Amino acid sequence: MINIDWKKLVFGYTKTNYNVRCYYRDGKWGSLELSSSETINIHIAATALHYGQEAFEGLKAFMGKDGKVRVFRWEENAKRLHRSAEGILMAPVPEELFQKALFKVIKHNKDFIPPYGSGASLYIRPLLIGSGAQVGVKPANEYLFVMFVTPVGPYFKEGFNPVDIQIVRDFDRAAPLGTGHLKVGGNYAASLRAGVRAHDEGFASALFLDAKTKTYIDEAGPANFFGIANGKYITPDSTSILPSITNMSLQTLATEMGLHVEKRHITLEELAQFEEVGACGTAAVISPIKKILDRDSNRVFEYCKDGKAGPISTKLYQTLQGIQFGDIEDKYNWITFVD
Ligand code: PLP
Ligand code: COI
Repeated sequence: MINIDWKKLVFGYTKTNYNVRCYYRDGKWGSLELSSSETINIHIAATALHYGQEAFEGLKAFMGKDGKVRVFRWEENAKRLHRSAEGILMAPVPEELFQKALFKVIKHNKDFIPPYGSGASLYIRPLLIGSGAQVGVKPANEYLFVMFVTPVGPYFKEGFNPVDIQIVRDFDRAAPLGTGHLKVGGNYAASLRAGVRAHDEGFASALFLDAKTKTYIDEAGPANFFGIANGKYITPDSTSILPSITNMSLQTLATEMGLHVEKRHITLEELAQFEEVGACGTAAVISPIKKILDRDSNRVFEYCKDGKAGPISTKLYQTLQGIQFGDIEDKYNWITFVD
């Protein structure tokens, strides 16, 4: 019997029973293996270790009131992993293999899906790595695709309570023509120093600006940024941010709520005009932001003056989570049931 205090879960790793693995060798994918080991055996010259040839994904499964398990928009994660693989010359994972792995790993870890009402969910982490040996800077000719799961609570300890974030100029997460639009490990390595410093200085996350001109909002650490002003949902258009599936879904919901969606450059000056701002992603869902500090000028932008998330962010959050947990009709076919 497992013994987890679901309500106290944070966003972290909890050991589960199984993970699944599949190897790409001799130009083809092999069979999908179920494993109870938490480790992988890897060649010391694997390209993932030396040259960062690796990509990952993050998606969630939710337990509904009806006892059914719902996965949110997995096809979009499969497509994004495909783009990441192509972007750094790895063997792409076919959509059927992604789906097979997903269903298998969830079914074999059913006991780890947090119960309805706990607010927690099952985070699914697909990982694709160059496992073949190279010493020259070249793509591997062997790959390993792994999928593991872990039950999680909120990404930021504040949950849906507003957080403070910090604008940084002395670090970039990704270059305009780099790999910021792909979910590859190097972007996260590049974001660590700014992220850890932000935490140490009392902020939930760093807010990166566009690397070239430092004039526009790029990404809020591991999440996309959005602002609400005058009936508009505004989110950055940038080649260096990850196209967030949560953000894409919020844009649909915002349109349905009668908001006008704008995807365009957002200047720092505009931060003063927003009525609400937030960070969004699979892990965070929506994290309302109450304060943005410009670390260089000390300028402060404040929101949520009553200490609570604004009405539009709240409605977007409740609608998205309602669909994910099965309390609100899934009009857009975002949910796949796993039985
Ligand atoms: N931006 C970055 C850098 C991320 O790592 C993530 C997480 O996947 C997101 C945004 C949010 O994307 P999604 O909503 O698809 O999880
Ligand atoms: C997300 O899934 O939203 C993420 O930001 C993933 C993160 C833990 C790297």
